[in-house]
Amino acid sequence: MCGIFGYIGVRKDAKDIVLNGLKALEYRGYDSWGVATIDQRISGKEIAIKKKVGKIGNATVSDLPESGMALGHTRWATHGGVSDINAHPHLDCSGKLAIIHNGIIENYDELKKEIIKSGHKLISETDTEVAIHMIEENYKKIGLLEAVRQAFNRFEGLNAIIVMDGLTQTFVAAKSGSPLVIGKGKDENFLASDAHAILPYTNRIYFIEDGEIVSVSSRKISVHSTKDGSQKEVKFNKVGWDINIADKGKFPYFMLKEIFEQPKVIEDIVNNNEKQIEQFSDLIKKSYGTYLIGSGTASYACLAGTYIFSRIAKKHINWAAASEFGYSADFLTPKSFVIALSQSGETIDVIDAVKKAKSHGVKIGALVNVLGSTLYRLSDYKLLLGAGVEKAVVSTKAFSAKLTYLILLASIIAGNKNKAKKELDKVIISLEEILSDAYLIKIKKLVDIIYKFRDIYVIGRGLSYPIALETALKIKEASYIHAEGFAAGELKHGVIALIENGIPCIAFLPNDETYGANLAGAMEMKARGGYIIGISYKPHEVFDYYLPVRDCGLSSIIPLVIVGQLLGYYLSIKRGLDPDKPRNLAKSVTVK
Ligand code: AGP
Repeated sequence: MCGIFGYIGVRKDAKDIVLNGLKALEYRGYDSWGVATIDQRISGKEIAIKKKVGKIGNATVSDLPESGMALGHTRWATHGGVSDINAHPHLDCSGKLAIIHNGIIENYDELKKEIIKSGHKLISETDTEVAIHMIEENYKKIGLLEAVRQAFNRFEGLNAIIVMDGLTQTFVAAKSGSPLVIGKGKDENFLASDAHAILPYTNRIYFIEDGEIVSVSSRKISVHSTKDGSQKEVKFNKVGWDINIADKGKFPYFMLKEIFEQPKVIEDIVNNNEKQIEQFSDLIKKSYGTYLIGSGTASYACLAGTYIFSRIAKKHINWAAASEFGYSADFLTPKSFVIALSQSGETIDVIDAVKKAKSHGVKIGALVNVLGSTLYRLSDYKLLLGAGVEKAVVSTKAFSAKLTYLILLASIIAGNKNKAKKELDKVIISLEEILSDAYLIKIKKLVDIIYKFRDIYVIGRGLSYPIALETALKIKEASYIHAEGFAAGELKHGVIALIENGIPCIAFLPNDETYGANLAGAMEMKARGGYIIGISYKPHEVFDYYLPVRDCGLSSIIPLVIVGQLLGYYLSIKRGLDPDKPRNLAKSVTVK
């Protein structure tokens, strides 16, 4: 979802700093971009804007005037179509106030009628433009902070806005959902939707909380309550992230880089924060019903969690897609424990589900990758995934990090953590085999065979069932091929009607009690002409193509899914697509 970047300070290339900031946020997904800067060519109070549909690519803002203040936005269209006019920032009537906005103002119609009645002229179809005219109307009577605060409190829905004022050279930002952070520099300050975009300039970060409104100028930062305007103390965190982690290095795409980072991510989880994992595990052990919730890839990690806890800890864990959880959560009691799995910590379906659970007095746990994210701050107990910045929209290392944590958490309950650690050590060896040049050649050869197909089917069973679902999602997202993952046992209940001659059918066959039944499923698909791709610890004559994956016991699900990730990646490349930024998708879905 939308990227935000603002600069105010002593440097005069504010517009370029902002454009580069937006480039660091491109992975969030967008369909237009815009940059506003103070226009010194007139009274030095007006704002000049450049905004365009499409990707930033090699765009420049050299045609915008130099200044020490600029604000930029990458828009993922919600209210109003994809057009230059609807791109952000938007100006008020005076041309001295600009705004960018993430979210949806649900009572937009009512507010629009009000400001048109007051004589304001709108040129776009967006709710954002209504907002800046409301603020302009207030600003005629009161100061900027109060003008923004009073307008913001009238917006219904989850929103984050930044207003840029050419008169006082100040930003005022307010949020109720959608992430927003302040970076504090020397005689310069930054605003952004992600902390890591600010890291090239400062590591002193303040994560703005929902219900806060902030005023930021080049030398002054103040934080207030949106409710009553009262000032609050500002405590800056020093984040220790390595800025280099956020670039592609020798890899052509972030997705491939992040796939290759997985052995290290798993090793770090196994060897670090043992105490927190044990404490978290104890919470699950003591809870009267634990529920894993997540969206997309994270939801498949939740489903995998139910098998992992059953198999290892003999414990019943529930799961739900976060977007569905609220419809069947009336049974929750304060003794329940809801654990949200999320890479970004900003997925609106997850945040909403967590808030609903909290309304039942439930304790919230989080397995989350982003420090200071909304989920991180909403949760009572958190485990940071520690996977490092994940920039590809197609999630990979965050998924294997979640599986690793779930295996360790269940193993601690069962009292056999060392067995899990030994299995995970084998996983790392298996990953080194899978990430070798020789293995990648096997994957690419298979891709040459299947990349033109419109449909691909993926079967799993038991623990490999969520792996089949996740592999299908990787293929869909990255290559736009329709891939359907399903439980092998369901083949004969309908899906087999779709198996035609030559259709690629991927069968996960780990060395567990599902092997025989899954092999039978592969044979049934083969008998109807399916092209069988066996991903297994040993070959079999029914396979038309075999990808070996070392047996790592229950933890085999990790190398198995990494083969699925690589298939999605190389299918995307073969089809000439960008696996980091698939069409229509965003890295973090912060609007419903
Ligand atoms: C993952 O490949 C997808 N891009 C998507 O399903 C993602 O997992 C989902 O939106 C949840 O995101 P989160 O983990 O940041 O909450």
